[in-house]
Amino acid sequence: MKKSKLLIQLMLFFMVSNMVAQTPQITNVENRQTMTLNGVWKYLVDPYELGYYDYRRTVRDLQENPSKSESFFLGYQQQDPSERVEYDFTKADNILVPGDWNSQKEKLFYYEGTVWYYKAFKYQPKDEASRQFVHFGAVNYEADVYLNGQKLGKHIGGFTPFNYEITDKLKEGENFLIVKADNSRGLEKVPTVNTDWWNYGGITRDVKIVEVPETFIQDYYIQLAEGDDDVIEVSVTLNGSDKAGREVILDIPEAGIKSTLTTNEGGVATGTVKAKKLTLWSPQNPHLYDVNLMFDDNLVSERIGFRTLLVQGSDILLNDESVFLRGISIHEENGMRGGRAYSEEDARMLLGWAKELGCNFVRLAHYPHNENMTRVADEMGIMVWSEVPVYWTIQWQNEATYENAENQLTSMITRDKNRASVVVWSVANETPVSAPRTEFLKSLIEKANQMDPVRLVSAALERHTKEGTENTQVVEDPLQKYVDIIAFNEYIGWYDGRNDKLKTAEFDIQFNKPVIISEFGAGALQGLHGEKEALWTEEYQEELYRETVKMLEKIPQLRGMTPWILADFRSPRRVLPDIQDGWNRKGLISETGNKKKAFYILQEYYRMKKEQF
Ligand code: GCU
Repeated sequence: MKKSKLLIQLMLFFMVSNMVAQTPQITNVENRQTMTLNGVWKYLVDPYELGYYDYRRTVRDLQENPSKSESFFLGYQQQDPSERVEYDFTKADNILVPGDWNSQKEKLFYYEGTVWYYKAFKYQPKDEASRQFVHFGAVNYEADVYLNGQKLGKHIGGFTPFNYEITDKLKEGENFLIVKADNSRGLEKVPTVNTDWWNYGGITRDVKIVEVPETFIQDYYIQLAEGDDDVIEVSVTLNGSDKAGREVILDIPEAGIKSTLTTNEGGVATGTVKAKKLTLWSPQNPHLYDVNLMFDDNLVSERIGFRTLLVQGSDILLNDESVFLRGISIHEENGMRGGRAYSEEDARMLLGWAKELGCNFVRLAHYPHNENMTRVADEMGIMVWSEVPVYWTIQWQNEATYENAENQLTSMITRDKNRASVVVWSVANETPVSAPRTEFLKSLIEKANQMDPVRLVSAALERHTKEGTENTQVVEDPLQKYVDIIAFNEYIGWYDGRNDKLKTAEFDIQFNKPVIISEFGAGALQGLHGEKEALWTEEYQEELYRETVKMLEKIPQLRGMTPWILADFRSPRRVLPDIQDGWNRKGLISETGNKKKAFYILQEYYRMKKEQF
């Protein structure tokens, strides 16, 4: 077998085995017994990855006896003055977790590369027989994780959770956790090198120690069966030595449901439970039930909404009623504080603005946002489009790239599959049509449908002017056959012509499927005023919104939209001095929280749509 082929297979195996080292995803961590590791950590910036590779570029943590002097993951400290140790976390600068490094440290604002994080902590197990896992909400982009100098594993993907079992590595008393976080971009990565958002690096979400019994409830799915409002589908996965043939109790007191399921050899229990007259979750009435799963003395509590979801022709039926998705696109950023959003407060601020706009739907672009967003959306009654960062020009024929994209999709679905608010999984944004691309995305769509038979699957496609026509808009993309909702981005008036073109545009969409406009918009500097023909003024953006909603009403299958975008956001592609200065200005709200005129145009349109639908 040719050496290169062997190498690729080895690499793939190593990557897979390393990623496999990560214990299967534990869901609903926030309602479990945990100890937070959030707060002040120490950090070392390591642009040449001295702490990871030796001068022969060999990976140190694969070496028999990695050098104490430079192997940062050992967290070693000089024992006597004659000893050469070229790093010391205890003397290093502080940084907050969760939080990106770019907005915390001015010298790291543009930094892309490796930063080592160090956290010393004491741990006393509550129960000697219990097991412990370390759980990360997300680390951008690649994380190598070590406990007390021992490697736990490597995780790839900046926006999805992961956890490692540490039961046999945790010491009573003093411990230290070290994370090598690397946000450097690469053609083979997901996303790839080119994005229109800031590449915030670091441990961007919560870190927790989770303590569970030896055999515990690792994951579960509890949702109404497809198109059926009185049958709940349940599957519960146990993890541990005593998982086969065990009884798990599903208890939903308010619905008068108490039902016992039994696990199979693999520790999985599946079944259906009859549910009478459930109060169905909807934006008007986002009713959540307290749901308990009990197994031995293991209790996992949840708040779950039940709703049915279907596509019928070009209608989207929520609880058997046709809905119009009054949406807005959102990036996971708190412009006011600067940096990645991560907290419940951030979620309430962003979704609060969406509510004020009159939204019942949000597109969380272009990657899975933190779990606070989907849980607060459950509570607020806002439907959610959640997406994996398969964005622009991904390496479609690279197997490892596909594996990576599928892992991110699987992790996103695993985390949020019990959120009533999440109604659409999106597998891509603005990807150039080609056979390898369509194959790649088709496989992701199949994976999503296989994992979740109920939710709708889509992708943000592109439209263009039909050949030989002045202004007839078409979406010529083979992927339309495989998605439940035809969604496309359209920038008539901004990247394509000026606002007058909006008045004459026609749409020719053949498919009898719901259509969502996943993006439209214009840049405007808040506070800059002028003629409505003058770009970057609030008046130009206002006029574009006024004319666009009128234009889109011409599409008979139109069932929703998520204009680009709720708030101005940081982007390294936006350098126009005095206007952009590192911000994409297509927000309806400035990074300082000030609304632009177009905000009120959309708010009025949604007030009207709400009456109509
Ligand atoms: C694209 C893309 C967004 C981008 C936006 C823009 O369509 O999907 O990520 O920010 O357009 O150009 O502002």
